[in-house]
Amino acid sequence: MTGGVTGGSKTGWSDRFEEGLHPAIEVFNASIAFDITILQEDLDGSIAHSRMLADCGVITKEEFAEISRGLEQIRLEAKEGTFQPDLTDEDVHFAVERRLIALLGPVGKKLHAGRSRNDQVGTDLRLWLRRRIDEIEQHLVRLQIALLGQAESHADWLIPGYTHLQRAQPVCLAHHLLAYVEMLQRDRDRLLEVRRRVNISPLGAAALAGTSLPIDRRQTALELGFDDIYRNSLDAVSDRDFAVEFAGFSALVMAHMSRLADEVILWASEEFGFVQLTDRCSTGSSLMPQKKNPDVPELIRGKTGRIYGHLQGLLTMIKGLPLAYNKDFQEDKEALFDTVATTKNCLQAMYILFEEGLVFSQERLSVAVQSDFSNATDVADYLVKKGVPFREAYQIVGGLVKTCLDQKVLLRDLTLAQWKACHPSIGEDLLDKLPPQSVVCSRKSEGGTAFVRVQEQLEYWRSRLGSMKE
Ligand code: ARG
Repeated sequence: MTGGVTGGSKTGWSDRFEEGLHPAIEVFNASIAFDITILQEDLDGSIAHSRMLADCGVITKEEFAEISRGLEQIRLEAKEGTFQPDLTDEDVHFAVERRLIALLGPVGKKLHAGRSRNDQVGTDLRLWLRRRIDEIEQHLVRLQIALLGQAESHADWLIPGYTHLQRAQPVCLAHHLLAYVEMLQRDRDRLLEVRRRVNISPLGAAALAGTSLPIDRRQTALELGFDDIYRNSLDAVSDRDFAVEFAGFSALVMAHMSRLADEVILWASEEFGFVQLTDRCSTGSSLMPQKKNPDVPELIRGKTGRIYGHLQGLLTMIKGLPLAYNKDFQEDKEALFDTVATTKNCLQAMYILFEEGLVFSQERLSVAVQSDFSNATDVADYLVKKGVPFREAYQIVGGLVKTCLDQKVLLRDLTLAQWKACHPSIGEDLLDKLPPQSVVCSRKSEGGTAFVRVQEQLEYWRSRLGSMKE
């Protein structure tokens, strides 16, 4: 096909080329195996581009009608499974153009005027990512709602709160779960920020410098739903910041989910026993008949690593590239596609886990919050309210904890006489402050774990998320 559009085995490029590619190089060079993912967006972009070419008088209205009919025909063939590009097509852009020419003849050759694959691939990828961002936003909301649901149905349950994974102070289970709702909210905010920068059109920047043809970049941007166009054509074809930013967003979502996953894994252990995994979300061992394994949260935690890897890969890929387009950019796709798929799959798995994959154990949680010294701070605070300087109160209670540990008792086992011996200002009213429920109730500072505060938070999130459709 002289002057054709394929890099193919024979004479594909412009007539400057006399020989086809070395077969191994053809394989090495091709991206069709993975960039077929952006086929729909390539068709959308080409329809908008050809309509604009017609409106600007570069092609006729009739030619546009034919071209767009041909492009829709390709969409149909893809749906029916009959559009099957091969290696000789090199990439999705060439595959579409070649099929268009096969369908329409010479008119098909008019499509590529005023653009290059460089601005085309950037357009396709941004359109594709924008759609995926909107889906991921929905997955984030769904997970928030599942966590909120669990928080609401355990509104008066307690769980030990930890620092350094050592028992610290009891907290509301709902408070703990809502902490993840907050993280996911920041992830949503970040995602919308990323979307803003993804949604800018590079189309019409052509190879690197713009075009001498009378095109209207704003028309294609508008038709494709972009908020703006790139001001600088060199920047337009060589910006992959949006891919890096998206991977950065994903890395943080995955970090948040990995932390939650890790807690579920701990909670499901015999040692903690705070949750039981349901059969629908756990697996057995091929050898040990008694085992029930937390594969779902483990996989989420494990997959976090590869998202960090993609972020690193993308950052390294753009480092040191001269302006403008470089073929290195072809490497953005697999990283981005996998980042999107993995993040989506993990959000969905975590959602299912919190919808129907775990059951909190009231018994184990309530035993856990009663069998430690996590009310020690409350004794110190009590003394502070009686006028004892905090550091002094802290030392007194520290000494008392040591004595209790030696005697194998808890603070709640001490008699009033023993308390008085510890400090004369201690009265009977202290005893009411020691049960975990009272400890939690007293943490009324803004953002604290007191039931009243957590109730406010639950209401806040319900009114914010309750109306969002899933
Ligand atoms: N397959 C290429 C990519 O993904 C499309 C752009 C190719 N441009 C070029 N000048 N070779 O980046």
